Amino acid sequence: MTGKIIPLTEWKRGNSAPHSPPSLPVLDARARPLQDLRISLTDRCNFRCVYCMPKASFGKDYPFLPRTELLSFEEIQRLAKSFVGLGIRKIRLTGGEPLLRKGVEKLIEMLAQLETPNGKPLDLTMTTNGALLAERAQTLKDAGLRRITVSLDALDDAAFRRMSDADFPVGDVLRGLDAAHRAGLTPVKVNMVVKQGWNEHAILPMARYFKDSPFTLRFIEYMDAGTSNGWQPEQVVSSETIRRRIAEHFPLVEAETARNGEPAVYWRYLDGSGKVGFISSITQAFCGDCNRARLSTEGKLYTCLFANRGYDLRALLRSGIGDTALANAIASHWQVRNDRHSELRRLQNSGQSDRIEMSYIGG
Ligand code: GTP
Ligand code: 5AD
Ligand code: SF4
Ligand code: SF4
Repeated sequence: MTGKIIPLTEWKRGNSAPHSPPSLPVLDARARPLQDLRISLTDRCNFRCVYCMPKASFGKDYPFLPRTELLSFEEIQRLAKSFVGLGIRKIRLTGGEPLLRKGVEKLIEMLAQLETPNGKPLDLTMTTNGALLAERAQTLKDAGLRRITVSLDALDDAAFRRMSDADFPVGDVLRGLDAAHRAGLTPVKVNMVVKQGWNEHAILPMARYFKDSPFTLRFIEYMDAGTSNGWQPEQVVSSETIRRRIAEHFPLVEAETARNGEPAVYWRYLDGSGKVGFISSITQAFCGDCNRARLSTEGKLYTCLFANRGYDLRALLRSGIGDTALANAIASHWQVRNDRHSELRRLQNSGQSDRIEMSYIGG
């Protein structure tokens, strides 16, 4: 029997839920499948990156979510299980800084047990700033995390501290990277956001440092996420500019990879020393095959990084909803999804003005 999806409006009106689960794949209004879930574990962070949580906005009095508002680990596991049943094959834990969430290893253990419909193991990963990673890499691996992505915007302490605006030396992150590699959280990826006038001098040293390493470096165009970073188009250094600058020293050729909904495009070093990625949300929007759903710390489901409204799954959970009805509610929400913010930004040359913060929803 194929699953009947009740529109969200009808669900809200209190119609009884269908008895059968939705059929797979769950496609949105642009035929994009639901495949990737990002779960934000906290809206707090021990960094104040200038492009994400500038101190002027995220000061001592910032109203972070009170602990009582957070989804419990059991609630996260229940939602994750429902998503996995709907076709999710990758779960990325984000923040804020996910390592600040107490007992995250326990949650990882709970998520690592989830079974996918096709029996393949779930791709369970995390994006972290790496400051606390050296001490945690092995316990994360032991708990069942499969791989990890670390943010790092420069190799020199001066630029690193200017970008992160926190009291951590870059050495902490580099130790974290090594520990992640040793623990087998591979492939370990490194994300560098480039902001004009702040860290573009670090592009070449970063490329040189990582090209012969076991780590995959990816450059990210500075995005107009949230409303507090004061984003201006002139502050974006395009992927093409970055790539040309690297290629002047280390020749590159575009790698033939199926994108398969991934944000990064990869290029290979001609000398055979690995690859480097570019995430070009500003100059080459990748909404066309965007398969990512985002769950906020307090249980709201967002279908775009630039959304301004989420769907309150926590309320559904706490209303005592059954498993099939929950799966149908999530599926119906995805099926009406029509988001393509980055494409529209390019077409209309402007973005919407009220958006959730990146530190709230994760990268
Ligand atoms: P893997 O390829 O699975 O390792 O992951 P990923 O590329 O999905 O990972 P990651 O979370 O590290 O994403 C890298 C960065 O790309 C994020 O921090 C964001 O800056 C950006 N990004 C990821 N997804 C989206 C998206 O859907 N839209 C936009 N505009 N940017 C995104
Ligand atoms: N533009 C681009 N990437 C951003 N991130 C956070 N804010 C921005 C932004 N404004 C990304 C960083 C970090 C991840 C958690 O989110 O790359 O790695
Ligand atoms: Fe924290 Fe990551 Fe945002 Fe930097 S980018 S402030 S490390 S959440
Ligand atoms: Fe997906 Fe929205 Fe990013 Fe486009 S802007 S790729 S729809 S999250």
